[in-house]
Amino acid sequence: MRIFSGIQPTGTVHLGNYFGAIKQWVELQEGNFCIYCIVDYHALTNENTRPEELRKAKQDLALDLLACGIDPEKSILFVQSDVPEHTELCWILGCVTSFGDLTRMTQFKEKAKGQEFVNGGLFYYPVLQAADILLYLADHVPVGEDQLQHLELARRIARRFNWRFGEFFPEPEPILGKVPRLMSLADPTRKMSKSYGPDHYIGLMEPEEEIWRKIRTAVTDVGLTPGQPMSPGVANLFTLLELVAPAEVTEEFKRLHQEGKLLYRDLKETLFRYLMETLRPIRERRKELTEKDVEEVLAAGAERARKIAKEVIREVRARVGLD
Ligand code: AMP
Ligand code: TRP
Repeated sequence: MRIFSGIQPTGTVHLGNYFGAIKQWVELQEGNFCIYCIVDYHALTNENTRPEELRKAKQDLALDLLACGIDPEKSILFVQSDVPEHTELCWILGCVTSFGDLTRMTQFKEKAKGQEFVNGGLFYYPVLQAADILLYLADHVPVGEDQLQHLELARRIARRFNWRFGEFFPEPEPILGKVPRLMSLADPTRKMSKSYGPDHYIGLMEPEEEIWRKIRTAVTDVGLTPGQPMSPGVANLFTLLELVAPAEVTEEFKRLHQEGKLLYRDLKETLFRYLMETLRPIRERRKELTEKDVEEVLAAGAERARKIAKEVIREVRARVGLD
């Protein structure tokens, strides 16, 4: 498979990003051609992004990704704006994108809601995302559930381009992880996300006390009423436990819960312990990496990405008559 995926440099990587996407990125490196991108053009759509923050966020994200196990020997890791062909393809693809489709994007509607100034980049965001993927002729894209609509659009864009200019782009399929939508611990009816504030996510590199505080105060319920399904908060804790603990441990806790004998404090303590065990090697690797390591990796990544991008753009230009 030819894999492409992207992540925005906006603050810390959280458990939703990790279990929803990055863990798959790492696993897919075995036996596939993988290209992973830090999407800084996309981050500009966020009104609050300041230049110095964006620079730092890119560095930090690259460090986090390397610490998580993205291996520059196995895959290409690069920054989107180092390959300006992304924006050129974005424009060309925009001309085969349905305006109506763009108005139906739920992420756009959510992000635009309640904002006084809605920038055009936010509206065009999914076209740039399609360009990211198609520029490398990628056929599979590991993402969380919130990106499925954008991928569906990328397929429609590829199809329309192929129909007008001859078969060229593959129609990229999503790859969903085991937990395509991890929920917030503070409000389990919403997804874990940076946009709702610090209580709504757990960052991979956060201080241990902070992670414990967030787990300790996670929303649960007053106990299981027989015959009732698990409440969303408790279900979310079990989802996390399944990701980090051995199956027997989760089974035992589930049994206790069914019997009405589960103390949520025990569940939370156990979850915290196994979660820290899972995160420890990542956190330790992160400490060993330097900014210089990152610079080299990103420079080499950009060069490899640019080579592919240039060829694809040349072909696209020829097909549409821009050569
Ligand atoms: P973002 O931080 O929005 O750039 O997202 C990066 C990747 O993480 C995308 O593939 C998202 O679909 C995925 N992701 C973000 N939040 C969650 C979540 N709560 N559960 C599962 N996947 C997520
Ligand atoms: N929109 C994605 C997100 O917010 C990030 C992204 C940009 C992306 N370009 C991509 C993901 C290409 C997959 C493929 O998570």
